Amino acid sequence: MSSPKKITLRINGVNETLEAPAHRTLLEALRDLGHVEVKCGCEKGDCGACAVSIDGVAVDSCLTLAWMVEGREITTVSGLGDIENPHPLQKSFSDLGAIQCGYCTPGMIMASKSVIDRNPNPTDDDIRVGLSGNLCRCTGYTKIFEAVQDAASVMRGEGDKQ
Ligand code: FES
Ligand code: FES
Repeated sequence: MSSPKKITLRINGVNETLEAPAHRTLLEALRDLGHVEVKCGCEKGDCGACAVSIDGVAVDSCLTLAWMVEGREITTVSGLGDIENPHPLQKSFSDLGAIQCGYCTPGMIMASKSVIDRNPNPTDDDIRVGLSGNLCRCTGYTKIFEAVQDAASVMRGEGDKQ
């Protein structure tokens, strides 16, 4: 077992430091630092609930060691917007009923942002493939896919599709 070392993570534009052993995952580190908006599901890469963005790419934080992402830009769903000024994805998910219990939502939104950042005009199949690592037990997925299309439309400057 390795002894704890100081790790500094840049999270939503702010440097935050914790003492952690080398095996501490990014998911554990984020939640230890109070970022409980990052959800803990399977802890083995199956559900996508823990997804965050690292340098603009969605990754499962449960499969990432915290020390490996020192100096990288880590963004959680809270870094995208807030209740007064939501990101188009946050607004579309809320407005279109793509959230039920909400447990999968932070990871879904981070994975969706990664899809749109790669391709601002994704097809329905692009979205399905991009979200294939994110599981939802509640919505049946249709509303999630609609919300991603709606947000992509807003982000292209074309307004709401609904
Ligand atoms: S908690 Fe990370 S993929 Fe499920
Ligand atoms: S809204 Fe409940 S798991 Fe997706």
